[in-house]
Amino acid sequence: MTDRFAIILAAGKGTRMKSPRPKVLHEVGGRSMLAWSVALARDLGCRQIIIVVGPDMPALSEAAARLVGAGNVVIQHEQLGTANAVAAAREALSGAEGHAIVLYADTPLVPPEAGLRAFGALEAGAGVCVLGFRAQLPNRYGRLVTTGEGALEAIVEANDASQEQLAIELANSGVMAAPVRLMFDMLGEVKNDNAKGEYYLTDLVALARRRGLPAAVAHCEESDVLGVNSQAELAVVEGLFQARMREAVMADGVSLVAPHTVFFSYDTRLAPGVTVEPNVVFGPGVTVAGGAVIRAFSHLQGARVGEQAEVGPYARLRPGAVIGRQAHIGNFVEVKNVEVGAGAKANHLSYLGDGQIGAGANIGAGTIFCNYDGFFKYRTVIGEGAFIGSNSALVAPVSVGAGAYVGSGSVIVSDVPADALGLARGRQANKEGWARTFRTARAQAKAAGAKPDGAV
Ligand code: UD1
Ligand code: CA
Repeated sequence: MTDRFAIILAAGKGTRMKSPRPKVLHEVGGRSMLAWSVALARDLGCRQIIIVVGPDMPALSEAAARLVGAGNVVIQHEQLGTANAVAAAREALSGAEGHAIVLYADTPLVPPEAGLRAFGALEAGAGVCVLGFRAQLPNRYGRLVTTGEGALEAIVEANDASQEQLAIELANSGVMAAPVRLMFDMLGEVKNDNAKGEYYLTDLVALARRRGLPAAVAHCEESDVLGVNSQAELAVVEGLFQARMREAVMADGVSLVAPHTVFFSYDTRLAPGVTVEPNVVFGPGVTVAGGAVIRAFSHLQGARVGEQAEVGPYARLRPGAVIGRQAHIGNFVEVKNVEVGAGAKANHLSYLGDGQIGAGANIGAGTIFCNYDGFFKYRTVIGEGAFIGSNSALVAPVSVGAGAYVGSGSVIVSDVPADALGLARGRQANKEGWARTFRTARAQAKAAGAKPDGAV
């Protein structure tokens, strides 16, 4: 296979987002739009990925460097148009031989198959291939001018189009692929004598045709190539992503009781036979095994849920929560960085942070792992089959041995041996008749108009 390269354009200021965050660092499905473009380039097998950023965008440059390495982040100093932006990658790709694809970092939903079709056209001999689609309202898009036989001749930007050309429904997505050396060669010929006075990448089509090279269109859906310019458009794209994920997980055999109320991340993995009740949010990094039930109003992130486990309603699983087979995590229970053994139960009102819970252990209502001293975090280790009475505080680092009991309301500060009872609370004392005597004395005082010392 010919080597593949990607150039991701991310130099736009994104002023219409009205956000202090660079536009392409806004997230869709729990990952930045920029990271989506990089993931697409990787899926397409690109061996080098260049990200073009604007000057004075330190947060963006750092994020880009983390994704592709600082050497692959290049700066477009002035926003002179898409051709000028691609040209900024010239030096970084000076040794590159093969095929390159240009992606926009604000267009996160491009399916890999569409990019593969574009590269396929190059393999078949095209000098350039653009990803085109039938636009509902072609308005601002560049129009793909084709011959009677459907061969691509040129792209005309809306501002420069004749009435006749404006009637064309086939629109340019912005994704374009070309042989690397040919692309940079042709970029040198692009002029800015157009309505916007910009250097248009789209001119490469006419330039390739002038050299007698075939230009191809790879087709895709409009929803695959929606760009984000405003918060409202970001929400539309997020909605499209969620709709796709819901369809995909249901097609894989997951039951969603109310699909439109369940929210996924780009990497959510649910096995066939999982049931998800209404109003559940999956943040990044969640895997759920077959037969597990995620009950209503639960929020999961960075967590693994084992086979036939039950989570929620109203549970919160945070990063590092590993819920064992057939374990139960119930309402208002928060689990962070704890491995919960098979069949263990924590059904009500608990914070379980940093530690380990053995198989079959029972964690009573209101149990708290006190894991933080204001500076460091510590682990709580609970053995298999242990029983933690309700409203207990386990002050870590601490362990409760296998089969041990902790009396309700205890504050456990030292280890409880296996099969022992750990009890750490005031001993109960009953005073016979005390309440009756007290009531009588108070009633008499009140009737006599006398107040006890200190009463107001
Ligand atoms: C571009 C296409 C148009 C296509 C449309 C699809 C051109 C000339 N036109 O138009 O045919 O239908 O996309 O959305 O290519 N950018 C830079 N540096 C620049 C200019 C742009 O990095 O100097 C980046 C922007 O941040 C953006 C992308 O390139 O991500 C597209 O630029 P934009 O100005 O939005 O192009 P359009 O006018 O939408
Ligand atoms: Ca645009």
